[in-house]
Amino acid sequence: MVPRETTLALLIWGVVFVFPGNAYRRRRGRWVSVMGTARVIFDKWDGRYSTAMSEVRSSAVRDLFAAASRPDVISLSGGMPDVRRVPHDAVQRAVREAMQHDGASALQYGSSTGRVQLRSTIVGLMAETGVRLSEDDIIVTAGAQQGLDLLAKVFLDPGDVVICEGPTYVGALQAFSAYRPRIECIEMDEHGMRMDLMEETLRRVGPRGAKFIYTIPNFQNPAGVTLTGERRRRLLELAHEYDIPVVEDDPYGRLRYEGGHILPLKALDADVIYLGTFSKIFAPGLRLGWMAAPRPILAKTLLAKQAADLCGSSFAQSVAEHYMTGTTWRRVLADLTRTYHERRDAMLDALTEYFPADVTWTHPEGGFFVWVTLPGYVDTRPLLAEAVERGVTFVPGSDFFPAGRGANSLRLAFCYEEPAKIAEGVRRIAEVLDDTLGLYRAFAAAGAFPQSACVGRGVDR
Ligand SMILES: Cc1ncc(COP(=O)(O)O)c(C=O)c1O
Repeated sequence: MVPRETTLALLIWGVVFVFPGNAYRRRRGRWVSVMGTARVIFDKWDGRYSTAMSEVRSSAVRDLFAAASRPDVISLSGGMPDVRRVPHDAVQRAVREAMQHDGASALQYGSSTGRVQLRSTIVGLMAETGVRLSEDDIIVTAGAQQGLDLLAKVFLDPGDVVICEGPTYVGALQAFSAYRPRIECIEMDEHGMRMDLMEETLRRVGPRGAKFIYTIPNFQNPAGVTLTGERRRRLLELAHEYDIPVVEDDPYGRLRYEGGHILPLKALDADVIYLGTFSKIFAPGLRLGWMAAPRPILAKTLLAKQAADLCGSSFAQSVAEHYMTGTTWRRVLADLTRTYHERRDAMLDALTEYFPADVTWTHPEGGFFVWVTLPGYVDTRPLLAEAVERGVTFVPGSDFFPAGRGANSLRLAFCYEEPAKIAEGVRRIAEVLDDTLGLYRAFAAAGAFPQSACVGRGVDR
């Protein structure tokens, strides 16, 4: 219902913008809130932008950044690592050493592949997970996100097919969609991407029919599930058979809370394009990640990178080199892992305690996220505004699909808040769900929704 105290309302493209701050769209005969705050931007340059940019959607994760950063709001939306636990004195020491030892070179333009010292650190990190590389197999990027953008630039023409998990990482959808591909999503279960569906899709698109397969095998963002060793092998067999490169995005691999290490795809096949990052093992503020790939692909990617930024930040790379020397970073990472483990447990316990019986969720063995699936007739987007009003944020599931799917799901992040706040946040979302599901159930019982809409889809456990 559009509130009566509204002082001014504008109807634009079927959306009522009311002041102060909300927006409502007519859905199934009633006005539903579509956002907690409305910003109307009249853009006199509209019509000049490229067609490519019209495909790029903003994500609720970024839109919610301001709301989620308010101290009175419990943020279960963003995948923000808890950098408050990274000791400032360790970082200050690394900065001091960077200036003492690297001085001018840390302040200068550097090689576009990245500093060899940092690439050597990365070789060591990768070896610990079972991947054998040399410095020349790696380029340093501005986070894994730049790797995704560069790969899209290097590989994609409009209409090309990309195969990925459904749901998948919002930032990958943003990076890819600017190049206007057709994105095919493979459904997951608790063991990761379903290989029967992958095979079906590959058969449909044919040999070389897709430009690449994009996967987040460990503690997937947003689903929280992990691709089993057996499925990793099957995926590589299929990729070989159909001659399609695999992109492995692995920001969370070192954040495991239970179960044993599973070899990365890159350890099983040297042709895999691997994206790594310092964001979750050190800090995202440095904007440092890497790509390990066959050398011809690296050469093409370097050309794209030079056009994007000439070279990465020498200063940030030098600081990371010094931070990653010695053992402090390992102690910090062990502390972070323990902390996230506790928070994951707090979230799973709270979900069991507060969430309605007809809602299911995944059980992540690591990483940051739990994926929640509601009955098929629920749309979580309008629920977000209600949750924000109650002082908690989540991300609606439809953000994680190219279009038109995932409406009855949502993502919860347990990485940032303390256990007590996580429990309280889950309780508040449960209140929103209880109110809404009660109404939906009454409609469903009266036959107001088609039967097919009542079947839940997604990643259930
Ligand atoms: C799956 C996935 N890939 C890539 C990234 C981007 O990470 P970075 O900070 O290294 O750019 C993220 C960040 O959350 C992520 O979850």
